[in-house]
Amino acid sequence: MFLVTGATGGIGRRVVRLLRQQKKPVRVFVRLTSHYSELEHRGADIFIGDLRREDDIQKACQGAKYIISAHGSNGDALSLDYRANIELIDQAKEQGVEHFIFISVLGADRGYEDGPVFKAKRAVEQYLQSSGLNYTILRPAGLASNLLPLAELFRESGLYLLIGDPKHRTSIVSTDDLARMIVDSLIIPDARNQILPVGGPEILLGEHIPQIFSRIFNKEPIVINAPLLAVDGLRGVLGLFSSQIPTALGNYRTLLANEFFCTPEETTNLERIFNFQLEPLEKFLRRYLAI
Ligand SMILES: NC(=O)c1ccc[n+]([C@@H]2O[C@H](COP(=O)([O-])OP(=O)(O)OC[C@H]3O[C@@H](n4cnc5c(N)ncnc54)[C@H](OP(=O)(O)O)[C@@H]3O)[C@@H](O)[C@H]2O)c1
Repeated sequence: MFLVTGATGGIGRRVVRLLRQQKKPVRVFVRLTSHYSELEHRGADIFIGDLRREDDIQKACQGAKYIISAHGSNGDALSLDYRANIELIDQAKEQGVEHFIFISVLGADRGYEDGPVFKAKRAVEQYLQSSGLNYTILRPAGLASNLLPLAELFRESGLYLLIGDPKHRTSIVSTDDLARMIVDSLIIPDARNQILPVGGPEILLGEHIPQIFSRIFNKEPIVINAPLLAVDGLRGVLGLFSSQIPTALGNYRTLLANEFFCTPEETTNLERIFNFQLEPLEKFLRRYLAI
């Protein structure tokens, strides 16, 4: 049995699709509020719970042979990025799980003080590495699927909001390629007990994204470049109303203030391990936008 958390998310739902195409038995950990009908139609076993609850995690892990942790936290790094993963790892040990896959984040090891998600991911990586379990830790850069809503907005309006330095480098990975790497990590020996940075095949600058949209939709871009100070201002104002929002915005600011890209050596290594060519961002977008 494969247990997948975050199965309704951008990465998780693609992982479940691949596993079900291979006719693997899959249990998905979802919330009552999650949109999980697609997963049900694909034949996944639905486990309803909340990753904030230890006893839900314990029940969901019963009989699991493989665990794929792909849930997000929406800012609650302590409960979800940290505690839920520690509990999943403890349960994996208890259940004698054969392989644990953890979706971390590029830059988890950079010690960003203002990014609790990054700190939680690093602490979980270390816990998993010393757990004695077989593991694969994937550290993705940005996901191509995150850009689809922005592309739709651009299609309608020609607008693109670029926050921070337009020269910042990024290597956005096709979310389908990442899902394939997750599933293949379970059988490829070179992916076992590894931490792998995961990016797309090209290093893009922030300003390249509206240019790609412009080519796809044959439309002149209207780029609004807001400085990072705008996020700082927003944090200050929202901090007057809630102490949690500035913390969540800290992760966002960390993402905007820094560069997240893989070196050519790292992407070559990925293509060697997984034996396929990574998909460029423009190709991914054209495929989904049917252009
Ligand atoms: N997106 C990126 O660019 C990016 C880049 C690097 C790393 N990552 C990492 O990759 C992982 C997946 O990201 P994603 O973008 O695919 O996620 P996502 O689309 O934001 O989805 C988050 C998933 O977590 C689930 N979840 C949240 N709180 C939960 C709770 N209390 N109990 C049970 N499930 C809960 C959500 O369920 P609901 O459907 O119920 O909301 C959803 O399935 C995350 O760990 C993220 O840090 C993402």
